[in-house]
Amino acid sequence: MEKFIVKLENEMKKAFEAAGYDGSLGRVTVSNRPDLCEYQCNGAMAGAKLFHKSPIVIAEDVVKQLGESKVFSSAEAAAPGFINLKVSEAFLTEYVGEMLANDKFGVEAPEKKQTIVIDYGGPNVAKPLHVGHLRPAIIGESIKRISRYAGHKVIGDVHLGDWGMPMGQIITELKERKPELVYFDENYTGEYPEEPPFTISELEEIYPIASGKCKSDEEYKRCALQNTKELQEGRRGYRELWKQILKVSVTDLKKNYEKLDVSFDLWMGESDVDDLIPEMVDKMKADGLAYLSEGALVVDIAEESDKKEYPPCIVLKSDGASNYETTDLATIKYREKEFDPDAILYVVDKRQELHFIQVFRTAKKCGLAKPETSLEFIGFGTMNGSDGTPFKTRDGGVLRLEYLLGQIEDQMFEKISENKDIPADEARKTADITALAAIKYGDLSNQASKDYVFDVDRFTAFEGDTGPYLLYTMVRIKSILSRYKEQGGSVSRDMKDFGVVHPALLCGMPGKNVFRDMAGFSQMIDEAFTERAPHKVCAFAYRLANDFNSFYHETRILAEPDENKKAAYINLLNAVLEMFECCIGLLGFEAPERM
Ligand code: ARG
Repeated sequence: MEKFIVKLENEMKKAFEAAGYDGSLGRVTVSNRPDLCEYQCNGAMAGAKLFHKSPIVIAEDVVKQLGESKVFSSAEAAAPGFINLKVSEAFLTEYVGEMLANDKFGVEAPEKKQTIVIDYGGPNVAKPLHVGHLRPAIIGESIKRISRYAGHKVIGDVHLGDWGMPMGQIITELKERKPELVYFDENYTGEYPEEPPFTISELEEIYPIASGKCKSDEEYKRCALQNTKELQEGRRGYRELWKQILKVSVTDLKKNYEKLDVSFDLWMGESDVDDLIPEMVDKMKADGLAYLSEGALVVDIAEESDKKEYPPCIVLKSDGASNYETTDLATIKYREKEFDPDAILYVVDKRQELHFIQVFRTAKKCGLAKPETSLEFIGFGTMNGSDGTPFKTRDGGVLRLEYLLGQIEDQMFEKISENKDIPADEARKTADITALAAIKYGDLSNQASKDYVFDVDRFTAFEGDTGPYLLYTMVRIKSILSRYKEQGGSVSRDMKDFGVVHPALLCGMPGKNVFRDMAGFSQMIDEAFTERAPHKVCAFAYRLANDFNSFYHETRILAEPDENKKAAYINLLNAVLEMFECCIGLLGFEAPERM
């Protein structure tokens, strides 16, 4: 379906043309003076210079053409030349009715279906997920869902950190602790055991110790570097051990992401592209783009228009080992060959921006990515505690995601248990659902690139711009719908049943605002997709919730004596609920039955 705002614009264009002006002046926006009008057109102001007339004269000429308009119920010229518009109730009823009769509320399939790879999550194996992993998971998941909803083919890849120095460090520490393990015997030629030689908790304990020792002990560090190199060069026992690290770690990671309702199509990692590196590097050298500098192989990425200096991209370290840039470059090559994508999006901490500038420029310069592939860095800001510094535990350590989630679930459980009608096991489930909504909405309602304060009390509140407020509104609707059904009513999805003007539009502003909000749905999806901006979905849902709640407070619904009106209100409630379901699905959470 054509977007609502486009329909309004087309009507304005016709009016401008009929009055002898340029149709392109008919741009319409949602009013920034809702006390005066619903939409506005400022085209008369822009037209003044073009037509050497005062804007108010143009506005009046245009308004005269709208007397018979079926789209606008009122159009007024206001000094110095604004055109204030109100949309007709019949037109709004027809439009929203058609949205509901259509798939996806009338969101059209894109002109060209794109293939988009989203690289998000980015956990490192053998390390537990901590709060720093929350943002990429939540934001990436939502961008994935929005892009799919907008009609594109989307491939989500977790891109595990499974290949660098940390792997060598773990191997080093294991060798110190259990030198008798068969993996360390270079003469061993038999099969390796199926069972991993450690549990996930052991692994998580080993890694920080190994990495700490590397900082304080030169000899240990040398060993770790050597082991990393031997692993990458394919030493058999090390490769087997590394596979076990990966297996144990990935099982645990999957469990944790599942709790967040975050899923990936691909569980690939840095190691998966190792085979592609030699050929890639050879070509860079042969093309004369990569050269040796202080022993390392580098590619210059500076461009004439740069305002600051960009250091060259190191594509191989001086010992010949690959680094973070190497694996990201080879991954681009792999993704190009495998998916021929229109875009690759990276949802990563914004402090890694320089790395991605280097990688993207090198990828384009060396032909690893097609010129037209859009390589996009979606850098997100830091999640801070209430003191304005990065979120930590009370004693200053990194906070495991599991603990954070558990804390908030407990807090929600207490709140929900205040409703004595809800049995404890249901309250638990509801608390889990609501806690996730609180966290995800708290994160996504901010523009991703900004730092934000993770304020548990605010995020879990049932009032205000929060996830629980949205859920509370949905639960309210669900409860009205089920009471209506209990009383023998049946819920109609079809708006045509209720006449040319939907009765909810006749009981004052709140009803009309709900309709107008809904009418803006496909424009919101379009913006959220093109701008990679889940916060647009939040803002949309929040406005809809506020307007719906005003409508609810001002209108008798189940107590409405006129059965036809009552059925119409129920019909609207059902439509609003469907739209909320869709929005929270795009944000990555669900609603409980009651709370
Ligand atoms: N594992 C990386 C880290 O912990 C994040 C990976 C992001 N994705 C990428 N393609 N570099 O910093």
